[in-house]
Amino acid sequence: MSDWSVEQIEKLPSEAQSAAAEAAGLADLERVRVGYLGRDGKVTQALKAVGKLPPVLRPAAGRAANEARQGVEAAITARRERLEAEAAAQRAVADHLDVTLPGYGPEPGHRHPIMLVLEEICDIFVGMGYEVITGPEVEWSALNWTALNYPPDHPAMDEQASFYVTDDVMLRTHTSPVQIRAMRARHDEHCPVRQLAWQTPPMEVLPRCRCSPAPVRVVVPGRTYRRESVTLTHHDIFHQLECLLVDEGISFADLHGTMATFVREYFGPNTRIRFRPDFFPFTEPSADFSINCEMCGGRGCRFCKDTGWVEIGGSGLVHPNVLIAGGYDPAKVSGFAFGFGIERLAQRRFNIEDIRTLYENDMRFLRQF
Ligand code: FA5
Repeated sequence: MSDWSVEQIEKLPSEAQSAAAEAAGLADLERVRVGYLGRDGKVTQALKAVGKLPPVLRPAAGRAANEARQGVEAAITARRERLEAEAAAQRAVADHLDVTLPGYGPEPGHRHPIMLVLEEICDIFVGMGYEVITGPEVEWSALNWTALNYPPDHPAMDEQASFYVTDDVMLRTHTSPVQIRAMRARHDEHCPVRQLAWQTPPMEVLPRCRCSPAPVRVVVPGRTYRRESVTLTHHDIFHQLECLLVDEGISFADLHGTMATFVREYFGPNTRIRFRPDFFPFTEPSADFSINCEMCGGRGCRFCKDTGWVEIGGSGLVHPNVLIAGGYDPAKVSGFAFGFGIERLAQRRFNIEDIRTLYENDMRFLRQF
């Protein structure tokens, strides 16, 4: 034991303890461990040196070296446990989860401005005694056109202007086909031959039964489709609201009164309304109707195309052929119908100049409603 005295060996544990205490982290401590217990470490060297001692000195030196190894191991283990506990405490602080903080809940959605407008409008008509019904967006072309008295070669039926699914089925271009559905449904409620009625092609003239169906008083909100170029006021998908009243003795005065009541309730008592003669195959007489432009106060702007008026829909007295197609006898009843564009109303209501903003799904815009 030329290099190692027993005294030196006995000092190894306290040396190792000081070195371990200075280790700032587990990597440092590992270096300390290797320096004492590794293949060339001080304790290992001391143990090797014991074997080379004369036999008489070996027991005392061996005991000292073994105790030194245990002492060094204990010092390093104690320091490791301390460092690991500190690291765990630091992680606990860093990863701390405060369960009392308010979380990120799902952002509750709300209605789109078009739906807000539709619901409000429907409420007004419900207040006037109307029933709200809907019809399919994918519709028989026979109901979209033929039952509504369109002649076979009418330009509106052109493929260029509509989206066809098959020759007979299309995306409806307006909500007016639901007029036919509403009248037929009412007709069939008490009709003895209603099975026959639904088996015939939809355009076929119905009242073979001579029954007198109850009055119809419905509004029909819904989406409609046209192949159109998109502009400030036109879109290829838009919404309409259809109104149909069929009863005895209905006149244009009822149409005017109903429309005026609605417009004043929705836009305010000073709203002005204008009817102008127009043509629709399914009404006679027919009129388009406009309301005064709020965007420019009537002076003329891009939105109203410098007229001071915004056309919102078409209207008229239900054509006798349409009453017949719906299962009603035009000799006994008459009716009025109108249909208007919801986007135009929403635009005017919320001062939205460009219809496209309603369909772009820009949250900065939609959050305002
Ligand atoms: C019709 O669709 C008729 N069915 C309305 C009707 C019903 C007349 C009942 C008589 C009786 P028109 O094509 O004019 O009519 O459209 C009615 C309204 O829908 C227009 O005044 C406008 O407000 C809206 N509209 C029409 N095309 C578009 C479009 N491309 N984009 C946005 N709104 C439109």
